[in-house]
Amino acid sequence: APAQVLQGKKVTITAGPTREALDPVRYLSNHSSGKMGFALATAAARAGAEVTLIAGPVRLATPAGVARVDVISTNDMLAAVERAADDCDLFIAAAAVADFRPAVVASQKIKKQDGNDSDVLRLVKNPDIVATIAARQVKRPFVVGFAAETEKVSEHAAGKLQRKNLDMIIANDVSDPQSGFNSDHNQVTIIDKNGELPLPAALKTELAAELVTRIAERAFP
Ligand code: PMT
Repeated sequence: APAQVLQGKKVTITAGPTREALDPVRYLSNHSSGKMGFALATAAARAGAEVTLIAGPVRLATPAGVARVDVISTNDMLAAVERAADDCDLFIAAAAVADFRPAVVASQKIKKQDGNDSDVLRLVKNPDIVATIAARQVKRPFVVGFAAETEKVSEHAAGKLQRKNLDMIIANDVSDPQSGFNSDHNQVTIIDKNGELPLPAALKTELAAELVTRIAERAFP
């Protein structure tokens, strides 16, 4: 068994995409499979944590010993995270949350109208889940975010670390189709106030165990 570095700790993890309805049959979303967040939940449970895994719509089995909460939209995910975070030592935000949602959700299927060759989709900003938890004055867990970037990876990730008031961010170059979204592999750099630590490319399952060790060192020294 791996070292029990999270023994007695309560850990909340988000995974997968969120999905924003346009009408009863259509939605906006992204290519997150949930593999990274589920691998982290598995690794955290193996390290002794009591894990709550808040999952967007994904096709993955629940890891052994993990309490799972399924959600669809960003607002649903926020509500579930707020509840879990009230009694939580560590929050890891691995979900790929939709930044925007349709301003209006049509109650009936939107029709392709004759003579209309284009249409305008109005969007409104979603709440930022990880920033909401990191902004807490009370009941604030140690907060770890991810940053999915396609360019200037370190720079953009460091910006998110600061803007969202996170304790640590895992910078993820998602321009390489061999890693990031939906792959079994990933390559990340850990960034916190002490600097940057690039980790070698690895299976998400192996990387998750390494991340849990590194996060526990920082969160619970
Ligand atoms: O699910 P997989 O297929 O395994 O892929 C893994 C992954 C690439 C999705 C994962 O490793 C990853 O990088 N997750 C974060 C994806 C993302 O949307 O990053 P971002 O840079 O847009 O967001 C930064 C951080 O803010 C993230 O921790 C995100 O969860 C959080 N966020 C973003 C927007 C929002 N409204 N609320 C949030 O909490």
